[in-house]
Amino acid sequence: MRWRVAPVDAWPEESVRTVEVSEDLRIAVFRVGGRFYALEDRCSHEDAPLSEGEIVDGCCVKCPWHGARFDLATGRPLSLPAVLPVQTFPVIVENGQVFVEVPETLA
Ligand code: FES
Repeated sequence: MRWRVAPVDAWPEESVRTVEVSEDLRIAVFRVGGRFYALEDRCSHEDAPLSEGEIVDGCCVKCPWHGARFDLATGRPLSLPAVLPVQTFPVIVENGQVFVEVPETLA
């Protein structure tokens, strides 16, 4: 299932948008280096909103609570205290709009 996030034109570099898919799932979509990355907006350590984290080194987001870093492309943790990955989602850019593809089972 596709969720529309925002138009490309209205989305500055190094910024984030969020999508509320359900009560249990919010997705953070980051624009970095002209690309878009979608991750579950919940740190795997203690559930902090990664959308409030800092984008670092053009590839990662730093959790706002305890500083774990996650790879934007894969969701893998790159530093403690997180040890588990965060789920990622495919991003589609079509006709100037950004969409996230969410499996039916999660939508
Ligand atoms: S909640 Fe993210 S590192 Fe602790």
